[in-house]
Amino acid sequence: MSVKKVYMETFGCQMNVSDSERVATLLETKGFQMTTSEVGADVVLLNTCSVREKAEHKLYTRIGQIRKSSADNFNNSPNSKKPVIGILGCVAQLEGETLFKRDQGIDFVLGTRAVGRVSEAIEKFFDGQKNLVDLGEREFGYDWTVADSQRQFPFVAFVPIIEGCNKFCTYCIVPFSRGREKSLAASDIIRNVLKLRHEGIREVHLIGQNVNSYRPQFDSGLEKFTGATAFSRLLRAVAATGIERIKFTTSFPRDFHTDIVSAIDEHENLCNWVHLPVQSGSNTILRAMRRGHTIESYMSRVDKIKASPRNISLTTDIIVGFPNETEQDFVETLKMVEYCQFTSAYIFKYSPRQGTPAFEMSDNVSAKEKSVRFLELEKAVKNNQQKVFQNYLNKTVKVLVEKNSNKNMAQISGHTTCQTVVNFEGSSELLGKIVNVEILEAKANTLYGKIC
Ligand code: 5AD
Ligand code: SF4
Repeated sequence: MSVKKVYMETFGCQMNVSDSERVATLLETKGFQMTTSEVGADVVLLNTCSVREKAEHKLYTRIGQIRKSSADNFNNSPNSKKPVIGILGCVAQLEGETLFKRDQGIDFVLGTRAVGRVSEAIEKFFDGQKNLVDLGEREFGYDWTVADSQRQFPFVAFVPIIEGCNKFCTYCIVPFSRGREKSLAASDIIRNVLKLRHEGIREVHLIGQNVNSYRPQFDSGLEKFTGATAFSRLLRAVAATGIERIKFTTSFPRDFHTDIVSAIDEHENLCNWVHLPVQSGSNTILRAMRRGHTIESYMSRVDKIKASPRNISLTTDIIVGFPNETEQDFVETLKMVEYCQFTSAYIFKYSPRQGTPAFEMSDNVSAKEKSVRFLELEKAVKNNQQKVFQNYLNKTVKVLVEKNSNKNMAQISGHTTCQTVVNFEGSSELLGKIVNVEILEAKANTLYGKIC
């Protein structure tokens, strides 16, 4: 029997990217071959995102395109077959078997914690089982390892430390698609990071919906490390592995203990970057979102972060047009952006998600007004970014070289310790190395410089 080829596409957050890396690793160990094109694939997997309506719509568009390209391929070469289409991830978890009714092209559905059983699902399909749905929990002994060849970025590894979310912000579908918070054992995380270090990984990202809500069942692995919270102890434990760079995302403002800043101050390998989603600058809106923080409590954390001698860069997420957001609420968001001096911010237009409490509220900020606020906020964020970037001009930063630049073949590209992209001239031989770069120019979201 010929080797079955699997093509996979991933939408959404880092947790999905990380799940896909493990799915690909698993499939290759089971004898499947991962391919980079849907043309000629026996199986197409779509790892989906449901955080906004647009992301969900993309899925149905993609299924249509895949079906069309396989039909075109069939006309050119009648021996080719229609690929099996499997839906994984958040939309799969939320929609379950209703997906088969929504789109006839779908063959099986695996929820967010069922991805470890993907090879069984494919095999069952080929054995004749139709419309398989698995929305179950991770199996006992689930393997979290990723093969080097399946890493999205060869020198950077994503290491999940906590899954799910208990926060139930009123607009957000994630607690429903990803389930309750579940922390991984610290001893396993540390063992994994040590292994990655020995394999030549330069940078790890500890990932989770809310990493700083980390609360493992047992202390094992953390015994020797002090800290005000389990997360800050974990940071110190991971720092002690000696891996060159450690980043972590996403942090939840209410649970952001300032001991995290102390840990960064103590350990050079804990990078100087914090992603702390604020969502709004208005206390009225924050209350309606049930975020659990006020703008004052957020800013006091920002003050602590900015007071660090490490020059920690701060990034955030902001939603515009939440139900009942007034012009005044929005002005408060603009003021907050001015105060916080974010290096960058992801801005989203509010998108009602069925099943969330905010879905019951009237989506009463018009699409036009959402666009106006989006653009105005984007301008404010860009202006602030340029102010932050001016501080880098003529200074030297350390960059992990990750790839050839997308825009200019003579250039290579990587990230600073504070997670800003830097492009500069250099050869592919530098891939995977950490080099000193003098910053000469700042453009939107990117710094430019020369090796020194
Ligand atoms: N509408 C718009 N943005 C949303 N986000 C989460 N849910 C929604 C929604 N319903 C944004 C938040 C979150 C980021 C990952 O996505 O800003 O931090
Ligand atoms: Fe969604 Fe809030 Fe949980 Fe973040 S903290 S995943 S915004 S519910």
